[in-house]
Parts: sequence; structure tokens; C-alpha cells
Amino acid sequence: MAALLEVEKLAVWLTGARGRPAILQDVSFNVQPGEVLGVVGESGSGKSVLALSLMGLLPGTLSMSAGSVRLLGHELANQPREAWRTYRGRDIAMIFQEPMTSLNPVMRVGAQIAEVLRWRRGMSHAAAHRRAIELLEQVEISAAASRAGTYPHELSGGMRQRVMIAIALAASPKLLIADEPTTALDVTVQAQILRLLTDLQRTSGLSLILITHDLGVIAELAERVMVMYAGRIAEVAAVRTIFDDPVHPYTQALLASVPDMRHQRPRLATIPGTVPNLFAMPTGCRFAPRCPYRRDVCERQAPAIVALAERHDVGCLRPFGYPEPVSVTP
Ligand SMILES: Nc1ncnc2c1ncn2[C@@H]1O[C@H](COP(=O)(O)OP(=O)(O)O)[C@@H](O)[C@H]1O
Ligand SMILES: [Mg+2]
Repeated sequence: MAALLEVEKLAVWLTGARGRPAILQDVSFNVQPGEVLGVVGESGSGKSVLALSLMGLLPGTLSMSAGSVRLLGHELANQPREAWRTYRGRDIAMIFQEPMTSLNPVMRVGAQIAEVLRWRRGMSHAAAHRRAIELLEQVEISAAASRAGTYPHELSGGMRQRVMIAIALAASPKLLIADEPTTALDVTVQAQILRLLTDLQRTSGLSLILITHDLGVIAELAERVMVMYAGRIAEVAAVRTIFDDPVHPYTQALLASVPDMRHQRPRLATIPGTVPNLFAMPTGCRFAPRCPYRRDVCERQAPAIVALAERHDVGCLRPFGYPEPVSVTP
């Protein structure tokens, strides 16, 4: 089956600083129709910048280039930002961490959903309003007809996030990107929203890129996982492979840093050090300074992303279980 989204060698850098260490570098991956791809990595690893790149929503202070960004067979790489307008909101939609920043505070929530339907679906005013109420019901908002007439500030954080999901789903996108969609919510509401999101994903068959730093969420909801570190891909594989047989030292460290879910031990080891600053980026592998297995070569040469097996990619010169260097970037 053709991929829904295919990204090759995506790079993002500070505008005017091309050639200097990039915020995203050599990012290549794909999303299959109907799958949930989890994206994990510590804060600052480039997850949000990746989401904005895919939406064509990078701020002017950042620039991007790519070998390819194919969405539904359309090549968007190196197109002006306007090229995304045709697809954004219609084929590809996004849910942000803080719904208040993306909802219009002075517009009733029903009208905000209806606006998307009129613009993207060409619906009449009345039809859009009716459909908006259906969408509010679909995201499990009770008394949807009266809630449609409220303003965002009258709703709880969880309700606002439900409204955001309704807006994102209004135009029936093929791909939904959820960037830490529940981080601002309390734990029970988080679970409800995530369940809702994946239920909707399954029933409508859309693809979901689920960005989170919560490995528990990934374990439960993702089919494949992409682990990012300092703007590069560390490892991409099926969720089971990532949890049971990770080969990248960073993936292993990330897993070791969470409390052991099976044994319920409150073991909170942390990975020594922090994600390097853009202006102090190591010249070789970006993880080398924190890597317990680093060799001299790791400090000199950046690893390329290589396929170790069918659907298992890794960006490491010495992945676990592979005694010889696997690949270096030219
Ligand atoms: N608008 C911006 N201008 C300059 N640097 C940015 C901008 N947005 C993000 N960055 C930098 O890019 C890196 C990745 O950020 P981000 O994608 O927000 O990480 P994550 O979402 O994984 O926590 C960070 O070093 C951050 O400081
Ligand atoms: Mg982020």
C-alpha cells in the first residue's frame, strides 16, 4: 500500500543559519494509511518543530528543506508555504497541546467548527451548524446543542480539547497530528481524551501521529514508534520491538528512565546529562556525550539512518547487538 505520508531527509534550521547545526536533520520516515505512529523523545528533541514542518506552519524564524515530503502522492518539499494551504485542515490536521491558543476566544465553539465545514466542505450555514453539533456529540460532549453556543473560556480544559478534536476532524482529514494533546490536562481527563482520539482514529480509519513524552501512552496506543533525539531520528520500529528489543542506546536509556511498568517499582533513573543546545551540538553523533557505549568514531562521525531489518531503522554507528560499525554519513 502506498504511504500516506513519506518524508525524506527533512531538515529545519534557524533562518539565516543554514549549514550550522540544524534543529532537525536527516529526518526520514513514513506514515501508512490508518496507522498510529507514536513520536517520543525528551523535551527539546524537535517533536513540535517536526509537527509544524509537516503542517507547513513553521514560523518565519525557521526554514526547512527536504528531499521529499509526499502527502497523499502530492510532493510538498521545497514548495512555498502556501502550497500547504490546499491540504491543511482538509487532508492533514493538528491538535496542539494547549487548546486555548488555537481556539478563537471571541467565537462560540459551534461556530468555530461550522466555519471549517463551510470553508472545507462548502456546507450551507444551517447544514454546517447541524453537523457541528453532531461532531460535538462524536467527541462525547453532552448537551452538545447548548454547548455549541458557549465560548471557549466557559469550558473546562478537557472540553476545550474535545472541541479542538471536533474542529480537527470536521473536514475528515486523512492524517491527524496530535502534539502532546493531553499534557495540560489532569490524569483522568488525559486518559479519556486519548481513548476518544484513538476510538475516532479507528472508526474513521485516519492515520495518527501521536507525539508524547509518555511512554505508557505509546505502549498502549501506538503501532509503530519513532524515537527522536536532538533533532534526529534515533530509532523507528514496531512498538513491540521498541519496548522489547531496542538497539539504540538512547531508546534503551529512555526505557530505563521510566518506572518499571510491569513490576510497579518506582524506579526513576534519569539519563545523565541533557539534550545538547543547538549552539553546542556535538559534531559526531548527537547522543555520544551521554552514551555509555560511545567509541571514538561516534564523536567524529554522525550516523546515517539505516534499515537494520524490515521496518526497523536506526541512527547509530554501534547499535546494540551489531559489533561492526553499521553506517556513517558521507
Ligand atoms: N521558533 C523557534 N525558533 C528557534 N528555535 C526554536 C523554535 N522552536 C523550537 N526551537 C528549538 O528547536 C528545538 C526543538 O524544539 P521542539 O520541537 O519544541 O522540541 P520538543 O517539542 O521535542 O520538546 C529546541 O532546541 C528549541 O529551542
Ligand atoms: Mg513539543
